[in-house]
Amino acid sequence: MTSVPTRSLGTTGPQVSALGLGCMGMSALYGESDRAESVATIHAALDAGVTLLDTGDFYGMGHNELLINEALRTAPAAARGQALTSVKFGALRTVEGGFTGYDGRPAAVRNFAAYSLQRLGTDHIDIYRIARVDPDVPIEETVGAIAELVEAGHVRHIGLSEVGADTLRRAAAVAPIADLQIEYSLISRGIEEKILPAARELGIGVTAYGVLSRGLISGHFTRDRELAPGDFRGMSPRFQGDNLHRNLDLVDRLRAVADAKGASVAQIAIAWVLGQGSRHDVDIVPLIGARRRDRLTEALGALDVTLDAADLAAIEKAVPVGAAAGERYPAAQMAHLDSEH
Ligand SMILES: NC(=O)c1ccc[n+]([C@@H]2O[C@H](COP(=O)([O-])OP(=O)(O)OC[C@H]3O[C@@H](n4cnc5c(N)ncnc54)[C@H](OP(=O)(O)O)[C@@H]3O)[C@@H](O)[C@H]2O)c1
Repeated sequence: MTSVPTRSLGTTGPQVSALGLGCMGMSALYGESDRAESVATIHAALDAGVTLLDTGDFYGMGHNELLINEALRTAPAAARGQALTSVKFGALRTVEGGFTGYDGRPAAVRNFAAYSLQRLGTDHIDIYRIARVDPDVPIEETVGAIAELVEAGHVRHIGLSEVGADTLRRAAAVAPIADLQIEYSLISRGIEEKILPAARELGIGVTAYGVLSRGLISGHFTRDRELAPGDFRGMSPRFQGDNLHRNLDLVDRLRAVADAKGASVAQIAIAWVLGQGSRHDVDIVPLIGARRRDRLTEALGALDVTLDAADLAAIEKAVPVGAAAGERYPAAQMAHLDSEH
């Protein structure tokens, strides 16, 4: 096995690979995916030393957990033994696939966990978190219910997702929090002002998603790409009309930096997020949304890219803070983000 370095997730969390594999796109939100290639990608990630697999029970309404189950069952025992599952719950869905809210009541938490364990085929979940705060349930109650699952041995660590600094503090007062999962990239830097400092103060790690802004800053997204019906990006403000063109102009500027460095655009974007963590006590672990082996190989290549002060300055000049055109979610979904209030 080639070895991906490890990092501690916060002061109380597990040791995880410095890059995690986000499995969402293998089941939902980014158009069609290929099941055999998805399983092969998970196997290749485990083989390379990636230990953290991120999912949500609502990704394809159970599809993603069943996929991970299959991949783990068919992986070599050593790789399976090292794999850590990070699972989000709480989203309420309709038969048609709509999202209708979040349920963080303790009884619901226990219910979601019971189903997830069954679908994953494991006897515990390594990190368990509600995807969005339920506005009708104090975070203390939701986190308290996960803490009971930890005590019972069904869950190992508690995480949070897309919460702001106040909620981080309230949750951390109830039980140790391993990590906050939140969007962070060259074009989504909202966490830097308050949330990241709070996480560091509390010893909470960060698992960053959208590091490639859902493909937008991967270097592979084209101006004329047609998205399948239901693809999240078809509704995301950053992928619309003039916004898309302005954002891809930023990518062109980033490409010049990448070319000079002998790296790909995606590798520069991932290495930049990786670099934001390694200088501090509490580490940032990027979750990479690769769903094909070639994309995974490219993403892992970011671990070999070292950005010095001159590189960082060139990147900052190419993509200054706040340069993105458009919000990171449609308005209705922005309203669900505790991290944006
Ligand atoms: N907590 C939350 O609220 C939340 C929200 C969203 C996601 N997540 C988690 O975070 C994970 C990562 O998020 P994401 O999928 O949006 O992130 P991402 O890594 O920013 O985007 C993944 C997309 O980038 C494209 N891509 C191009 N080159 C790539 C490369 N070398 N490596 C990886 N992807 C490449 C892929 O497109 P093609 O496949 O078309 O090539 C894929 O659709 C998800 O899988 C999920 O587990 C959490």
